[in-house]
Amino acid sequence: MSHKRVAILISGSGSNMVALAESMQGDHPARTCLVLSNRPDAGGLAKAAAMGIPTAMVDHRPFGRDRAGFEAALRDALDAARPDLIALAGFMRILTPEFVAAYAGRILNIHPSLLPNYRGLDTHARAIAAGDTEAGCTVHEVTPELDDGPILGQARVPILSGDTPETLAARVLPMEHRLYPLVLRRVAEGERGLITLP
Ligand code: GRF
Repeated sequence: MSHKRVAILISGSGSNMVALAESMQGDHPARTCLVLSNRPDAGGLAKAAAMGIPTAMVDHRPFGRDRAGFEAALRDALDAARPDLIALAGFMRILTPEFVAAYAGRILNIHPSLLPNYRGLDTHARAIAAGDTEAGCTVHEVTPELDDGPILGQARVPILSGDTPETLAARVLPMEHRLYPLVLRRVAEGERGLITLP
């Protein structure tokens, strides 16, 4: 059986990338074919290289507002790795509808909130400010609308009194590292049923 090829896109530390890459071994039907960053200083690039995973970097800054130009360069690097699935993992660039359409149904993302609540940024601060009693993360299919695609997995954690965005993020992140690999494996096996944790 040939493995499904998974490209992982990052912008930062790549802790979700590491969790995903470490999960794809043994009888897992997928393997990481590329780790691609839009930032030269992304810590995840060194981690991927240390794991023996091919890496690439397309710096978005020289393209300025030319989003299409950046995405053309991104797609060159991506298509060279022939991915079957693309996992956005701490990838902080908004993708155009054209890019999303080119890989329709094959892009996943993890977002640090219980979607549809708190699309966009600063999710933990917003949940705390709203007085919510729980928070979490969501893995969803990427569609042209930001943080809006079909939900494939969710993990919930309590918000405790005295929580700051940092203490809440620290409680959510380990759940991201559990949830994302479970969802990716299910998608790689051809299933899209909802996974919920705990
Ligand atoms: C995480 O909170 C993730 O939910 C968000 O980016 C943050 C950093 O992720 N998408 P990573 O450590 O770079 O995987």
